[in-house]
Amino acid sequence: LLHQSTYLVDGELKQWSGDTTEVYSTISSTETYKPTLLGTIPTLGETEAMEALKSAEKAYDKGQGLWPTMKVEDRIACMETFVEQMKTKRDEVVKLLMWEIGKNLPDSEKEFDRTVDYIYDTIEAYKQLDRDSAKFEKHAGVYAHIRRGPLGVILCLGPYNYPLNETFALLIPALIMGNTTIFKPAKIGVLLISPLLEAFQNSFPKGVVNIVYGRGRVLATPIMKSGKVDVLALIGNSKSANALQAQHPKGNRLRMVLGLEAKNPAIVLPDADLDLAVEECISGTLSFNGQRCTALKVLYVHESIVEEFNRRFAYKVDQLKFGNPWENGAKLTPLPEVDKPAYIQELIDDAKDKGASILNKKGGETTENFIFPAVLFPVTKDMRVFKEEQFGPVIPVVSFSDIEEPLDDMAESDYGQQVSLFGKNVTTLSPLIDTLVNLVCRVNLNSSCQRGPDVYPFTGRKDSAVGTLSVTDALRSFSIRTFVASKDN
Ligand code: G3H
Repeated sequence: LLHQSTYLVDGELKQWSGDTTEVYSTISSTETYKPTLLGTIPTLGETEAMEALKSAEKAYDKGQGLWPTMKVEDRIACMETFVEQMKTKRDEVVKLLMWEIGKNLPDSEKEFDRTVDYIYDTIEAYKQLDRDSAKFEKHAGVYAHIRRGPLGVILCLGPYNYPLNETFALLIPALIMGNTTIFKPAKIGVLLISPLLEAFQNSFPKGVVNIVYGRGRVLATPIMKSGKVDVLALIGNSKSANALQAQHPKGNRLRMVLGLEAKNPAIVLPDADLDLAVEECISGTLSFNGQRCTALKVLYVHESIVEEFNRRFAYKVDQLKFGNPWENGAKLTPLPEVDKPAYIQELIDDAKDKGASILNKKGGETTENFIFPAVLFPVTKDMRVFKEEQFGPVIPVVSFSDIEEPLDDMAESDYGQQVSLFGKNVTTLSPLIDTLVNLVCRVNLNSSCQRGPDVYPFTGRKDSAVGTLSVTDALRSFSIRTFVASKDN
């Protein structure tokens, strides 16, 4: 059991003796379902939230603080100290990733290693950005020395599906650009931050990173209402983002960097390599049980091949192994949100009521913390699974006869993150790609959707994102271009 009894504010690991919240895992080691107690975290209140805010404000000191004015090489040194210390915690964090969010061992290790790489890449990108700003520009007789400066105090809130990697995709670039931060770990995937608290404390000047535990609403509401947050950085759902934005006195003038929902489609054309399409759609829909914003959430398959595609796809889904995250070959794992199986069941029932069938034999089989992925066909627009971001193991397949059908749906959708396009004929693909890039931000040719490699821009149109993440883009998102202009260089 991990009892987290401290939180990080003003460079101090403050001891908490008030109420605590128990953290459970939906993974049980016995056949009888019983959530496993993993530990406790402090249930901090408004006073501590305001303490964290004041600490971040003091460290930023309206841009005059030690951190925002620190030399580039010194900020890099702090970040290097942090990543070196973080690396020593790999085993603990990976174990907690498996227990807290149910991510399988290879993917948990990947999440940790990818985060470490992300930090090193960010350091390199920051050096490059600094080299670029050493250059002068001259237009119409005016020289400009362009720099990048911090934005201020940033509230960082990450998601449960990548509680380390995506949270750090916000926190690390925000920090290295000279901002100060208040970070509240996700509700699920909270304990795995504990092994890193000391690394944060040891590596950064006091007040630069503040880490608080408790209920989002209790902590974030007073912080936002104070009007002292300069940037809201959140990866999660738009409902939370909207609520937080509305609490800030600046409302829709508040700067935000947001990664939100998506309903990424795959479009399988008549000449697609079917084995490849099936393989990619399996990983695209079901990696981490479909709990990824980049997951494929609807498959459009041309009517001429849909029967064969469905046969192969449904068969392959049934071959996937369900098991605890540490079990060899477990591709499907327990769902960390206790109410997720019931929600997925609702989507299945609704689709069946409206005429769809489950194509795979195991589809919809349940245990208390899991529901086996159901492949649903034929899915139509009136079904909930067509519209909602299921974020879990249920896969709608839609048959189309004319390419305009999926394109129209994408144009009408509230989301616009990515698409996967399967086909071979270049003459057909080229104009289609030109259309698709104006509907989403990344077109994946003959491959499933994904965020990585992390150097590529990660963003979305419409309600899918605000701002851009990735290594260099995130440095830009968390800073502002300023310049010194003069008539002489
Ligand atoms: O949940 C959204 C994540 O950004 C997905 O990242 O494509 O690396 O799994 P991924």
